[in-house]
Amino acid sequence: LEADNRPPVIWMEFQGCTGDSEAFLRANQPTAAEVILDYLSIDYHETIMAAAGHQAEEAKHQTFEKYKGKYIAVVEGSIPMADNGVYCTIAGDSALNIVRKICSNAAATIAVGSCSSYGGIPAANPNPTGAASVAEAVPGVKVVNMPGCPVNADNLTAVIVHYLTFGKLPATDRFGRPKFAYGKRIHDNCERRGHFDAGQYAESFGDAGHRQGWCLYKLGCKGPETFHNCPTVRYNEGTSWPVQAGHGCIGCSEPYFWDSMTPFYKR
Ligand code: SF4
Ligand code: F3S
Repeated sequence: LEADNRPPVIWMEFQGCTGDSEAFLRANQPTAAEVILDYLSIDYHETIMAAAGHQAEEAKHQTFEKYKGKYIAVVEGSIPMADNGVYCTIAGDSALNIVRKICSNAAATIAVGSCSSYGGIPAANPNPTGAASVAEAVPGVKVVNMPGCPVNADNLTAVIVHYLTFGKLPATDRFGRPKFAYGKRIHDNCERRGHFDAGQYAESFGDAGHRQGWCLYKLGCKGPETFHNCPTVRYNEGTSWPVQAGHGCIGCSEPYFWDSMTPFYKR
């Protein structure tokens, strides 16, 4: 029998909407099926694994024991730290305990989506559960942040392929984001930029300027202060992205966007 050299993955989800898992399932370069079946051994992922309950917990435990220091940890959703983590528990243990145990023994940790990267929507003021990022919950952990609401699946698979090829995570910026995906300002690659430069702005949704694809700055677009490759990679197999669809960027890949980028529809 051929040896199975696929790196094991433990994918945890805490305070999140499962949007990042849904985005990952739409990956096409390579496809999610190829990643799941050919490149990685996804041993624990509550949404896609066949096992449930005790069997699922056992799969996580086996991987942890057998591949300590070798598995990849993926975290989706924020970690509630208030009141000893009582606001999110799985199999009787808190998300806080689980993420600390799994991530501090991982070869690498990838935080997918804005919630695990920076706390996301659960951390929005007044943050009643003390929602925190992986880096805050597990100090000193080796983590790459892949914010976005949701993460872009093509960027995620690129990070995985980089790790499998070079044995390390890609270079990151000061917010822990891979530079290849978050190194450029949305505004500088936006297809509506010519209209911005020409002073042609949509003033309201559905007006003549909006219908002609003019710049969405006056409708609140946060593209000038957001760093992400949405205009070039786009979502759903490269089909579209928020600005192409007629809605301004809300800065979903910037830290604490729910507080720092609001009000979304005003400049
Ligand atoms: Fe910049 Fe937004 Fe206008 Fe695009 S739509 S040019 S990102 S302000
Ligand atoms: Fe998010 Fe703005 Fe891209 S809202 S998905 S960073 S266009």
